[in-house]
Amino acid sequence: MKTILGINETSHDASISLIREGEILFAAHAERYSKQKNDWYNNEEIYTDMLNYGTPTHIAYYEHPQLKRSRIFLKGGAADWKPNITMNLPVKYFNHHYSHACAGYYTSKFNDAVIVVLDAIGEYNTSTIWVGEGEKIKLIKKFNYPFSFGLFYSAFTSLIGLMPNQEEYIMMGMAAYGDPNRYFNKVNAYFSSIKEQKYNFHQGITDWNEHIGQQEQFDIAAAVQKVYELRLLEFMRYAQAKTGKHNLVFMGGCALNCSANTKLWNIFNDIWIMPNPGDAGSSLGAAAALYGKHIDWKDPYLGYDLGGEYPVSKIITGLIKDKIVAVASGRAEYGPRALGNRSILADPRDPDIKDKVNLIKKREMFRPFAPVIMEEHASKWFKMNFASPYMQYAVECLRPNEIPSVVHKDGTSRVQTVNKNQHPGLYEVLSNWYAITGVPILLNTSLNIKGQPLLNDKKDIIDWQQHYMYNITF
Ligand SMILES: [Fe+2]
Repeated sequence: MKTILGINETSHDASISLIREGEILFAAHAERYSKQKNDWYNNEEIYTDMLNYGTPTHIAYYEHPQLKRSRIFLKGGAADWKPNITMNLPVKYFNHHYSHACAGYYTSKFNDAVIVVLDAIGEYNTSTIWVGEGEKIKLIKKFNYPFSFGLFYSAFTSLIGLMPNQEEYIMMGMAAYGDPNRYFNKVNAYFSSIKEQKYNFHQGITDWNEHIGQQEQFDIAAAVQKVYELRLLEFMRYAQAKTGKHNLVFMGGCALNCSANTKLWNIFNDIWIMPNPGDAGSSLGAAAALYGKHIDWKDPYLGYDLGGEYPVSKIITGLIKDKIVAVASGRAEYGPRALGNRSILADPRDPDIKDKVNLIKKREMFRPFAPVIMEEHASKWFKMNFASPYMQYAVECLRPNEIPSVVHKDGTSRVQTVNKNQHPGLYEVLSNWYAITGVPILLNTSLNIKGQPLLNDKKDIIDWQQHYMYNITF
């Protein structure tokens, strides 16, 4: 019986995963243990925690490190490669995009799907189309560097003064404040069709000569988001036509763009985006690639275990008293979103709550917050006819005046739906809150300070309580 350790490191967002016979035993991000955001390397603490769940017999590595290093070296970068985890076990390496494809398809319920992987860059691939049938995954089409959806988005993230490879989600949030048409022609000229991307975005946008103030930041963000969505739909229609498949598995960092993702429901019958679709999710992808079959995806609560019952009544008491409650309970989420176990929950009806939570988290005041809602109520509050258990889609809010703190400037919300099976504790919190207020919704945001990893263990909670806020419930 193989117990497979999947490893992603020496690139941004190091992580490890452990699977055995199709069961996910452990999956976590290095940054939550080292407290270094986007940590490139795994560490002793995460490795020790993983050993609580099993002893690996095989290692699956995300990427062909030497191949990637050769590409970086050819571009003038350092060619050294020193992984932090080395063990005397059989090792296999898996291609960057193939690992993304396996992380997506093998955690999905589909036996027949097109798999699209879009990111900045793997070894050389940047955009790939695969077909999954039964347990087989076959490459259909690949696009190589410098063509890249991710580099396009990151180059403009950098142009408006944000951190590329890290703050793309902030630019996506800024898009709602801008006029997409002011710079549309100019931005569109950089990426006017999926057949035509002559610019190498790896160098950044070097020929933008206009002054960029705050309104220009918003307007550029809006134009980039619009062009990205147009090209994404063009690419997805191409993938659909090429494969004839109606189920989509979407992976790679681009699958985190929740505004664009919603529009994919116009093309496909069903969609699966693994909750950790970026590179951090590919330690699980590499492990799944070695296993070579579907694995049992139950939920994303796969990391460090704080233990304890979900503190339902404490949360409700705290919400009634303070309107804002920080929660740390059970196993940490694998993926960028806090989905109830390392969350700040708040009353979405209060229009001042958004500013208060932004102040606690030290975030920009324009940043929106997401709602978590009982699944059976979702279509009464939001324009959606699908479940969104992992906050992957931004949809129109139908009753924005009733929940002002979780509606973005453009009238949309990045919804998390919850049912009883998915997270019984969080569902019970929402049920009780609904019984008291008539609103089956709470604000849900990650338990962290801007630019820092989510809280992980008891020590993080004690630090947080000393420095920021006293009422963490766990
Ligand atoms: Fe990637």
